Amino acid sequence: MTARIIDGKDFSATVRTKVADHVTRLKADYDVTPGLAVIQVGTDPASQVYVRNKGRQTVEAGMNSCQHNLDADTSEADLLMLVEQLNRDPAVHGILVQLPLPVHLNESVVINAIAPEKDVDGFHISNVGLLATGQRSIIPCTPLGCLMLLREHHGALGGMNAVVVGRSNIVGKPMANLLLKDNCTITIAHSRTKDLEAVCRRADILVVAVGRPGMITGDYVREGATVIDVGINRIRHPDDPEKTKLAGDVHFASVAAKAGAITPVPGGVGPMTIACLLANTITACCRMNGLAEPEGLTV
Ligand code: GUN
Repeated sequence: MTARIIDGKDFSATVRTKVADHVTRLKADYDVTPGLAVIQVGTDPASQVYVRNKGRQTVEAGMNSCQHNLDADTSEADLLMLVEQLNRDPAVHGILVQLPLPVHLNESVVINAIAPEKDVDGFHISNVGLLATGQRSIIPCTPLGCLMLLREHHGALGGMNAVVVGRSNIVGKPMANLLLKDNCTITIAHSRTKDLEAVCRRADILVVAVGRPGMITGDYVREGATVIDVGINRIRHPDDPEKTKLAGDVHFASVAAKAGAITPVPGGVGPMTIACLLANTITACCRMNGLAEPEGLTV
């Protein structure tokens, strides 16, 4: 079988258009402009690229974007004071603190200081608990993007066997909870899982978020399965040691020969993550203002 490519770049453009259309309506009908505040502490180059892209796409969708770049040695008290100020600001509907933070800052303390209704990453303990108990919450962007792609490809997911490889709080655990909410039978696999190949081969849906380039080969995949590759790893270019390229956690060639559908890297899950951040910002804005939420931008 040769896998169908699930085009996240194309689908994310559809999501961004929906967001932009709804922003236009919010402005015209209610004089409300959704606003997203992004905080970066330090100058990690990869984080800078992500933060810049987030800001650009926020503005392109017609929303307000404000970026706070803090020195790497910013104290926790100063960071918490900024978060508090943004919590109180009625023009800010979403707050995102770019991770990882410098080691002297406690990520849990900082994330849990964000007002849960403005936590557009869905990382606040209240949002985690709401999702885990199947209640309405703000959903972490990457798993939300994966679920949107899966629903778009399959329609209803009920009864399917889903294996999530990776147990992070950002992807693996929320992904499993979302798939469970969609009535899949869930397995979470990780570095201590015995016979990972056999476990993965039981999957109708295989979601991989381990951060190890090319780890999942065709041997791990059942004929016809749908494979979602969350990995974004920068590796040395095979043809030119001077250059680098992006690679997923999935060995694309061997898996694409077996799977029914697969997300590429780049152009799969990656573009969906920022589109879902915009979607979460508009969802938060509508909830805060007691307005109807746009269709198809959350689950
Ligand atoms: N760093 C890498 N991914 C993410 C993300 O989804 N949210 C935040 N806040 N930081 C990140």
